[in-house]
Amino acid sequence: MKRIGTLTTGGDCSGLNSVIRGAFLRAKALGYSLVGIRRGFRGLALNETKQPDYVELTDAICGESMLIQSGSILLSDTKWMSSEVENGRTVEDVKKSIIDGYRYLGLDGLICVGGDGSLKLLNELTADNDELKVVFVPKTIDNDVNYTDYAVGFQTSVKVAVEAIENIRSTARSHERTMVVEVMGRDAGFIALYAGIASGADVILVPEFKYDLKRVQNKIRENFQNNKNYCIIVVAESVEAGDFKHAEREVNGVVKYTHISYKGIGHYLAEKIKEAGFDCRSVTLGHIQRGGETCISDRLLGTLFGVEAVNLISNGTFGKILAFSENRIRIVNIREVVGSVNKVLQKDDKYVRLARDLGVYVGEI
Ligand code: F6P
Repeated sequence: MKRIGTLTTGGDCSGLNSVIRGAFLRAKALGYSLVGIRRGFRGLALNETKQPDYVELTDAICGESMLIQSGSILLSDTKWMSSEVENGRTVEDVKKSIIDGYRYLGLDGLICVGGDGSLKLLNELTADNDELKVVFVPKTIDNDVNYTDYAVGFQTSVKVAVEAIENIRSTARSHERTMVVEVMGRDAGFIALYAGIASGADVILVPEFKYDLKRVQNKIRENFQNNKNYCIIVVAESVEAGDFKHAEREVNGVVKYTHISYKGIGHYLAEKIKEAGFDCRSVTLGHIQRGGETCISDRLLGTLFGVEAVNLISNGTFGKILAFSENRIRIVNIREVVGSVNKVLQKDDKYVRLARDLGVYVGEI
């Protein structure tokens, strides 16, 4: 029987299981079996001490409940590559062990559901090796992937953030306070902007646009002058301010393989707001944004990508990343996406303009 493999890699999110289930059902219909590789590339790698770690997916495993369930039934890994290199293996050895694992499993194609780190790795792996036949499904709550309006997981993370901000709003209102809510998103402000607008925030600070702390304080003052005696400020985790700087990505000139952890800007801002004489608290939403019941849009997008990935493999089309824009599936060369910079907010984005038109302070734009 012909055989396709699938794995999830990088930070998890909602919708991953919808991709796996969609791929399973389509593979079955086309006469393929689908092998689920556990723990991302860590599970695919073949080396002297270890064989690939995988499970044959079945109807019993891939039931409808997968549509709802966040996370990945196949588990995910973010640190394997860096820990292997730290343990003295060369990057080339690590890459070879991945190709060896693929060969060992006798795969006719691999569906990799991942973020920008794994996309770069796959691009390197396939650059001088046409044995590895890959279709890539973009997932990330950060939504910073070019060519697609949405990556799998983003829309659920916005839903979760909106629900949390609504809970925070009721206490902000009762206590006539300012609440600063720090959301994830790495170097892009998509979660902050979308969740901020959808929850009626007064201030939305994103890494793309500089802002003036005085104008944030003015906005709070304005709210109180207008008898709206509270204020909601949504801030994206990678925003910097005054003397608040995040850790360096490079240490002694060496770029880190794993990402740095952003945290603390919410707390910092709340302290600055208190210093200006306002009652203020901060909340960091953190990893709750990666869970929650998968929203309908992510179930649909994940299923669509899973099915389409199998269609591509069965047609012999590889080295592609799936995208969805203007209501259509698009198929883009992995190389093209890797060559482009990550997607970030632009001043003329429709939702940036919308926030501004609503009177939300979104920075100096
Ligand atoms: O890239 C997804 C993401 O959730 C970011 O928004 C966040 O900065 C990061 O991952 C957190 O990663 P970790 O799980 O390693 O703390």
